[in-house]
Amino acid sequence: MALYSSKVMDHFRNPRNVGSLENPSGVGEVGNPVCGDIMKIYFQIENDVIVDVKFETFGCGSAIASSSMATELIKGKPLSEALELTNKAVAEALDGLPAHKMHCSVLAEEAIRAAIKDYYDKNNIPYDPADFPEPHDEEEGAEEEEESTCSGCGSKAK
Ligand code: FES
Repeated sequence: MALYSSKVMDHFRNPRNVGSLENPSGVGEVGNPVCGDIMKIYFQIENDVIVDVKFETFGCGSAIASSSMATELIKGKPLSEALELTNKAVAEALDGLPAHKMHCSVLAEEAIRAAIKDYYDKNNIPYDPADFPEPHDEEEGAEEEEESTCSGCGSKAK
């Protein structure tokens, strides 16, 4: 059986929404301190709806596929829905990721949250801080998972 689903391979080879936005409403940038991969997400928001979204990911194939799928899942959606997107939902939409690559999808969830928080902060919109935990504090975070080696760059990742 192939290690990666055809959807993962498709979003890795033909990532959707790659790039940046000139005057974004919100920007979220997160990194995995273990493997060093970085993900940056740009939002254009109108009336609390994400009308456009782009990403730049410097990372492994699973991180690129997760970014691509995550942006597809939140494009055209209200912020409240984007806030509820979990890394598990991103992985499921990709027809699964190998267990040792699940942490790559966590970056997408965290980058989206960071971009929403940036938008709220810039516009003085009040929010519940509990909706924005520090990256990697959640159960699905990288720290709890077994250490593995990045198949792309060979770096160690938890
Ligand atoms: Fe770093 Fe996938 S995000 S190995």
